[in-house]
Amino acid sequence: MSNNDISRRHFLTQATWAGAGLLAGPSVLAGINAQQNPTDKEKRRLGTLEVSALGLGCMSMAGVYNAPQPKNEMVAVIRAAVEQGVTFFDTAEVYGPHYSEEIVGEGLRPFRAQVIIATKFGFDTTSGARGGRNSRPEHIRQALEGSLKRLQTDVIDLYYLHRLDPQVPVEDVAGTVKDLIKEGKVRHFGLSEVAPDTIRRAHAVQKVTALQSEYSLIERVMEHGILSTCEELGIGFVPWGPVNRGFLTGRFDQNTRFEPSNRNSQLPYLTPDALKTNIKLLDLVRKWSKEKGITPAQFSLAWLQAQKPWIVPIPGTTNPGHLKENLGANNVTFTADELKDFRTAMETIKLVGVRTPDTLLKDQ
Ligand SMILES: NC(=O)c1ccc[n+]([C@@H]2O[C@H](COP(=O)([O-])OP(=O)(O)OC[C@H]3O[C@@H](n4cnc5c(N)ncnc54)[C@H](OP(=O)(O)O)[C@@H]3O)[C@@H](O)[C@H]2O)c1
Repeated sequence: MSNNDISRRHFLTQATWAGAGLLAGPSVLAGINAQQNPTDKEKRRLGTLEVSALGLGCMSMAGVYNAPQPKNEMVAVIRAAVEQGVTFFDTAEVYGPHYSEEIVGEGLRPFRAQVIIATKFGFDTTSGARGGRNSRPEHIRQALEGSLKRLQTDVIDLYYLHRLDPQVPVEDVAGTVKDLIKEGKVRHFGLSEVAPDTIRRAHAVQKVTALQSEYSLIERVMEHGILSTCEELGIGFVPWGPVNRGFLTGRFDQNTRFEPSNRNSQLPYLTPDALKTNIKLLDLVRKWSKEKGITPAQFSLAWLQAQKPWIVPIPGTTNPGHLKENLGANNVTFTADELKDFRTAMETIKLVGVRTPDTLLKDQ
């Protein structure tokens, strides 16, 4: 696909939304989630921000589930994603630190005007290593300058608070991002892994465009009051870990054991004991995927998309084949009966190692 094709597609979708009166200003924001077309798999809206129906998570390009990957290969994965219609790319200052942003900046340089770059602040990376939480206003400004440089851009489309700093009231964080928006350095504000009360307090100062928190068929705690808060406030939702770090793709089984250096080794739902039970959910996903003629990864991603039209998963991959497979989720639809029957079957499985609803009351 050429840059022109991408621009044309973007223009046509913009025109459609404008025709439907959906590109209006903040006065219509509260109801914007309700106005979306639930079957739209080409473009979706997070608040007022239009993105592709699936994004690309670029964290593991810098390590985490694997060794840091060669830059030229990851630039190629990012450009392949653009060619296949992805316009939404997710990174963070702390991934690497810095290396993921460098890859994303290089990968998207030729396409900057057509894509949405989301990055995150909230940790101290000034020493070159991952430090503690830091969201003091002066630190946010310093972090932003570094991210702009590495991402080779003069504006961040979506700037998330990665984790709340207990020393800094969220109102001060929202106020700082509000000033950065006024200065033209940031376009939209996002939050990650915060409680409903924190979302409301931040949103009262600066409208929140998207909340990014963990949500997948395995980890569904967001259904206990977070998604409804987003719906009420017109905030989009971006599930991270949407294929449960690989588990829902079928690449692990009950005998899988992770090296201590792999982040998966620390996850309560992937311990040897938890795997014995949680594999039942994967078996159910495999059965349904087979009936629908799709892969478990596609089923898992399309299921998330089917929950709400303002949900945009960001599966992470370093592999061009996995990227192509995951994007196949955009062609998968569910009937209302299928969604109901699958949920009934899924809810009979008592998962091990997942979060309980009371954990949502605390910022993570
Ligand atoms: N806000 C936050 O606190 C937070 C936390 C974590 C992540 N994130 C963001 O969310 C993104 C996604 O989350 P995640 O990476 O933690 O989890 P994920 O997307 O659920 O899983 C990524 C893992 O799954 C594998 N995978 C993906 N598609 C596959 C396929 N079709 N077949 C086989 N394996 C497949 C990847 O390996 P391969 O590379 O081999 O494909 C990778 O190891 C991250 O990249 C990051 O941008 C945000």
